[in-house]
Amino acid sequence: MNALEYMDIFEHLESNVRSYSRSFPTIFQRAYNATLEDALGKPYIDFFAGAGALNYGSNNPILKQKILDYIAGDNIIHALDMATVAKADFLDAFERYILRPRHLRYKVQFTGPTGTNAVEAALKIARKVTGRQTMLAFTQAFHGMTLGAMAATANHQYRHAAGILPPGGCFMPFEGYLGDNIDTTQYLEQMIEDPGSGIDMPAAIIVETVQGEGGVNVASIQWLRNLQAICQRHHILLIVDDIQMGCGRTGEFFSFEEAGIQPDIITLSKSISGYGLPMSIVLMRPELDQWQPGEHTGTFRGNNLAFVAGATAIQHYWSNNHFSTTIQRKAQYLRESLIQMIAEPISASPIKIRGRGMIQALHCPQDGLAQAVCREAFDRGLIIETSGSRNHVIKCMPPLTITESELDSGLNRLADSLHACLARK
Ligand SMILES: Cc1ncc(COP(=O)(O)O)c(C=O)c1O
Repeated sequence: MNALEYMDIFEHLESNVRSYSRSFPTIFQRAYNATLEDALGKPYIDFFAGAGALNYGSNNPILKQKILDYIAGDNIIHALDMATVAKADFLDAFERYILRPRHLRYKVQFTGPTGTNAVEAALKIARKVTGRQTMLAFTQAFHGMTLGAMAATANHQYRHAAGILPPGGCFMPFEGYLGDNIDTTQYLEQMIEDPGSGIDMPAAIIVETVQGEGGVNVASIQWLRNLQAICQRHHILLIVDDIQMGCGRTGEFFSFEEAGIQPDIITLSKSISGYGLPMSIVLMRPELDQWQPGEHTGTFRGNNLAFVAGATAIQHYWSNNHFSTTIQRKAQYLRESLIQMIAEPISASPIKIRGRGMIQALHCPQDGLAQAVCREAFDRGLIIETSGSRNHVIKCMPPLTITESELDSGLNRLADSLHACLARK
């Protein structure tokens, strides 16, 4: 079959709901670190990283070897939530290299394989423990596509697709939503305290420290601290959804570390498996672990290949601070390069930079510009996507392991695409 015949297969057989194959219309075959290759052999630099599932790059050789050895040894692949050596090794590595050095104590719950499963479980346990139903989430938040998680997802396109009102969610303004000088945590606290606000005392507040899907909106350290203080004052559980921003994306393993806060519950998915394999977990303070055995269940709660790769990634990248330092250095380079890219007044409506660590973005207020740039970039061999409810944001989220030359090559393609699109407007 040639490439066109392959594309026909998707047109004829796959549901209309498919999405990324429209943004990146080619047929991919191979990948190594931050370079993907399509079936015609055309290389693409990856500034997308599987929406955050490929923080350690594609086909990372260290992780790949462990997976190959594990398969070759006829080790357990599927076991529901039976105890396996691979799972024990993962839990041990997580405790040893992630939790203990950070003085964190959490129980680990393995949920269904995708991020939304972890969010569902987190919301359920918060409701069970507090006996309250309301969940506060934030404007532009994205927490997943299943009904419970969607009650905390703001974008109306997704919410309407449910065909039913997602239950129990209530939205508060994220930082900056009401303008630069308004502290939205004050508003939030007033709404919670006022018996006439129309809002019931919530079980939990769920937050992304950087809203990846919602437009790369960055919560400041102070705002996150205020949020934790409010939760503590009112006995509300704080859930940090670190599904996209965790596993090193912002520079430390958890995205909230810089703020010095300790959430009650944390959700992790995407890069927790290290290799792009499906796996999700919920971390909860031990006192919150009030599940009865089997009360929240599922066939794929744990993926032994993901445990093998996840444990290896943790040992290899997080047993000292070398990786974190490298991420921070690359992040600075990425940000400075973007600053240079827009240094000249190149657009009638000024383009601004936002982001933290290895997620940096260009906010392009001009309608259609960000989408046009991402399309152009694809033609020039760069995989990059827009973000935000109006698609005004170009989101740079390469694998954390991207090499200098891959990064430079991607940045050059992005700059050329931006300039080409602006010249056409
Ligand atoms: C912060 C956040 N939470 C939850 C999800 C849902 O994860 P999944 O698509 O794996 O269900 C995502 C996905 O992008 C996310 O970014």
